[in-house]
Amino acid sequence: MKKIFITGALGQLGRAIYGLLKDDPQYQLYLTDFHTVDDGLIKVLDITDEESVKAMISDFMPDIIINCAAMTAVDLCETEQEKAYKINSLGPKYLAFSANEIGAKMIHVSTDYVYDGQAGVPYTEESETSPLSVYGKTKLAGDDFVLKSCPKALVVRTAWVYGEGKNFVKTMLRLADEGKNIRVVADQIGTPTSALELARAIIFLMNTHSYGIYHATCEGYTTWYEFAVNIFKLAGKDVKVEAITSAEYPTPARRPMYSVLDNKGLRERHGYYMKEWKEALVEYIDSIKYSE
Ligand SMILES: NC(=O)c1ccc[n+]([C@@H]2O[C@H](COP(=O)([O-])OP(=O)(O)OC[C@H]3O[C@@H](n4cnc5c(N)ncnc54)[C@H](OP(=O)(O)O)[C@@H]3O)[C@@H](O)[C@H]2O)c1
Repeated sequence: MKKIFITGALGQLGRAIYGLLKDDPQYQLYLTDFHTVDDGLIKVLDITDEESVKAMISDFMPDIIINCAAMTAVDLCETEQEKAYKINSLGPKYLAFSANEIGAKMIHVSTDYVYDGQAGVPYTEESETSPLSVYGKTKLAGDDFVLKSCPKALVVRTAWVYGEGKNFVKTMLRLADEGKNIRVVADQIGTPTSALELARAIIFLMNTHSYGIYHATCEGYTTWYEFAVNIFKLAGKDVKVEAITSAEYPTPARRPMYSVLDNKGLRERHGYYMKEWKEALVEYIDSIKYSE
């Protein structure tokens, strides 16, 4: 039996990984998050608390640590830089350090926002990083700490994630239900990725002997505008979406205009393909329809 320690278990990715592993007798799970829920399933762990990280990990002695915890509010990171650094950089460092001490595998999740979006062609795992935002910079520092602290580490970079929790799909559906005017940027290009597809890829990688950086996004690419249009089409909502430019929707954090990731490692080293983004979106919209 493999013992798996998951941080950020209440987040979108944490929940998707839990959903896939919970009934599998091969795994014994230890779930943690900054907050807990009443059923006691989730233990409280702040990954920025180095002593608690060490103590919990040396107590459970996992074979694998999956870090799903992060400060993902990209704009808030601009004004709360110290907090962002602690959660996105130091937390992963403490986890990787503890993983290394007990010989565990460390899986850390990162972002397309480590790239600046100037390339114009999909970024591979070897592409140069150059983050534009505090979120991107702190995530990149986390990736570097993890790779330096633990030889048995995987850094999985993904993008535009939606699952169980707050995300773009849910926001669009709520705005439509509230009858709000919907204006969406049409000049940022990337790849919507369902937490479920990402969780499947992470579990696949977890069961290989591969380490280093991997890109894991759904296949294909689109704009936030086209993503919104497809969400409404699949959800059967007749909503007019106005396409706007990033300049018309200023945000505190700069975002890459083009952050398409090439899953080169998954494809070339493992022959593994993730679903097309539209196919994953259909699966997601169906799942929320049935859970309503
Ligand atoms: N969401 C995206 O679009 C996106 C895109 C690219 C990459 N990623 C990366 O994918 C990974 C998973 O993202 P996600 O969308 O699942 O994130 P999420 O839904 O925001 O979940 C993150 C979880 O981490 C928890 N957390 C925050 N600070 C913590 C701390 N100090 N100690 C322990 N837990 C803490 C959060 O709790 P609170 O909710 O209480 O803060 C939340 O439950 C992250 O590494 C993220 O950077 C996400």
